[in-house]
Amino acid sequence: MKNKKELYKKLMAIAKKASKNSYSPYSKFKVGCAVLCSNGEIYTGTNIENASYGLSICAERTAIFNAVSNGNTKIEAVAVYTPYKYVTPCGACRQVISEFTKNADIIYNSKIGIKITNIKKLLPDSFCLKS
Ligand code: THU
Repeated sequence: MKNKKELYKKLMAIAKKASKNSYSPYSKFKVGCAVLCSNGEIYTGTNIENASYGLSICAERTAIFNAVSNGNTKIEAVAVYTPYKYVTPCGACRQVISEFTKNADIIYNSKIGIKITNIKKLLPDSFCLKS
């Protein structure tokens, strides 16, 4: 478990770095995400907003779509970083995460360091076409 925590701290540091590229001129709420895939590869993403607000995308979905675009559909862990407030993925991102894993750890920040939860806990009984 200690090794896992060390790994997740590194994943959070990568998410933090990704948040620096946030394009969020409207909300001014920077978010960065790092996704760890089962082959050990890590993909990052940031939130990208648009003048037509509804077209904005969260950091988590950007990172996941980045992973999938590079051929990685098996997600092991997702770290979300924001400098202002401690967030877990929004509902839409939870559904997208659950498309690619039923058991990924979700890492988020808190005043006392990283916290670890799980997609099963954040989105129980997610919508799924397959039984
Ligand atoms: N946002 C994320 O990137 N991830 C979340 O989990 C919640 C919200 C973004 C969307 C928008 O650009 C900004 O944060 C404020 O809602």
